[in-house]
Amino acid sequence: MKILDATFGHPRGLLGRLGGMIMARPTIQRNAWTIRLLTIHPGDHILDVGCGPGALIHALAQHTPDGLVAGIDTSPVMLHQASRRNAGSIQHGRVHLQRASAMALPFADATFDIVLSANSVQLWPNQLAGVTEMRRVLKPGGQIAIILQPVWVKTSDEVKALGDNLQQLISSAGFRSTSCAFKEMKPIGSVCIVGQK
Ligand SMILES: C[S@@+](CC[C@H](N)C(=O)[O-])C[C@H]1O[C@@H](n2cnc3c(N)ncnc32)[C@H](O)[C@@H]1O
Repeated sequence: MKILDATFGHPRGLLGRLGGMIMARPTIQRNAWTIRLLTIHPGDHILDVGCGPGALIHALAQHTPDGLVAGIDTSPVMLHQASRRNAGSIQHGRVHLQRASAMALPFADATFDIVLSANSVQLWPNQLAGVTEMRRVLKPGGQIAIILQPVWVKTSDEVKALGDNLQQLISSAGFRSTSCAFKEMKPIGSVCIVGQK
């Protein structure tokens, strides 16, 4: 368990560097699917919470040529990989990365048009507190998306049940018009819960 945590959960050291490389490639399909589920405008400001190696940020930056994509993560190893992957956009001021926790987002109220998080919520010490923080930094009418590809379960039904729980979580944090989409993927399906502030 400690090895898995150092590789994927709270990536650190050599194992964390390896985990980041392993994580980035298979997320390409999931990231493209997530982007299709959202309404993204070229000037949008987007925050990725628990951005890991920054593959979703890279994809989002291509849809926001006049906007900004910010990413936070608790792992310096992941932030280093995300910086390298997004070096060009960082240089042009279109991507901004910083070390922070989902429990205390370092942004003012109503900063972002979209706030999302992929495969990170299961690691937070308090999921409701994290989702409430995401709501705080969203503009009124902004979108939240929580994406989960739970590689630790075995069946699509289990994935869908986790999606139902997350939909209840974001509803209890005050989001409205919530929906839960499911897509079969390898090695296991993904859910994407979308809601509006
Ligand atoms: C399984 S990785 C997923 C990375 C990326 N979002 C993706 O989909 O490939 C989980 C990430 O969440 C980060 N993380 C864990 N706890 C966190 C917290 N409390 N706040 C912010 N990030 C956290 C980890 O450092 C790691 O980069």
